[in-house]
Amino acid sequence: MNELPSTVAEVFESDLSVPLSQEFRAQTLNTLHTHKIICYRGQNLTDTQFRDFALSFGKLEPRIAAFDRGEQFQDLHLMTNVAPDGSLSAGHQDTANRGWHSDKSYKQKPSMTTLLYALAVPSTGGETEFANMTAAYTDLSKATKILIAELKVIHHWEFAYDGKPGFREATKEEKRANPPAIHPLVRTHPATGEKSLYLSYFAADIVGMPDSKGRELLDELTAHATATRFVTTHNWQKGDVVMWDNRCLMHRGRPYDHRTQPRTLMRAVVQGEPPV
Ligand code: OGA
Ligand code: MN
Repeated sequence: MNELPSTVAEVFESDLSVPLSQEFRAQTLNTLHTHKIICYRGQNLTDTQFRDFALSFGKLEPRIAAFDRGEQFQDLHLMTNVAPDGSLSAGHQDTANRGWHSDKSYKQKPSMTTLLYALAVPSTGGETEFANMTAAYTDLSKATKILIAELKVIHHWEFAYDGKPGFREATKEEKRANPPAIHPLVRTHPATGEKSLYLSYFAADIVGMPDSKGRELLDELTAHATATRFVTTHNWQKGDVVMWDNRCLMHRGRPYDHRTQPRTLMRAVVQGEPPV
């Protein structure tokens, strides 16, 4: 199969600090649907400007059971290994994203797009990888496509986060607001009509299958979907704003020397619609 992993659309000439025209917004969505990942290089944004850009694509959501930035914006936060006193550490938020996932797949309305704005990046390592779940679906055998066509997956944040380093205990309200979500294993993109595998490290089980069988199938499909031929790597530069389509990609953060290299990304997560 010759299908390429998605390519990052690299944009140099746009300034995201100015209010977005309807035309630019439409163009951005178009590029997102074609490329799945967009990188705007050389941005210099305030919190508010970054937030406004993200907000133009929909409602923003805070994180669950994580140490939020908690300043003026509850809906933005920093992924960083820099402690408040400036010292470098493992960071309380910086190791949670090392496994393949799609953001907030545990929500009834998972994220359509996530935006990261690079404030500090390591000289080596700390890349973000993206796996093209449309290409991975297309590449499945006909028999597998038939086997999985109607399957539903239970996604739950506890499956990936509970008790893991970097997370405080979820509050009662957070737990109540985030019950397990059930989503199709094969989802259809609302804009392109393309089918993708919908997997994530929040995917715990398959409805109606014994746990071990469900897990086995999820693990097999994840291994398939994250093979090198479906994966694109983004090498960060300071000033990058990267926005990607969670509806047809998984992603993960790569390791770096967190004891010597600061890495700080400002993050906004835009809510989508229930997957179908
Ligand atoms: C995220 C994420 C990966 C990274 O922000 O949702 O998974 O490389 N980030 O920081
Ligand atoms: Mn993520």
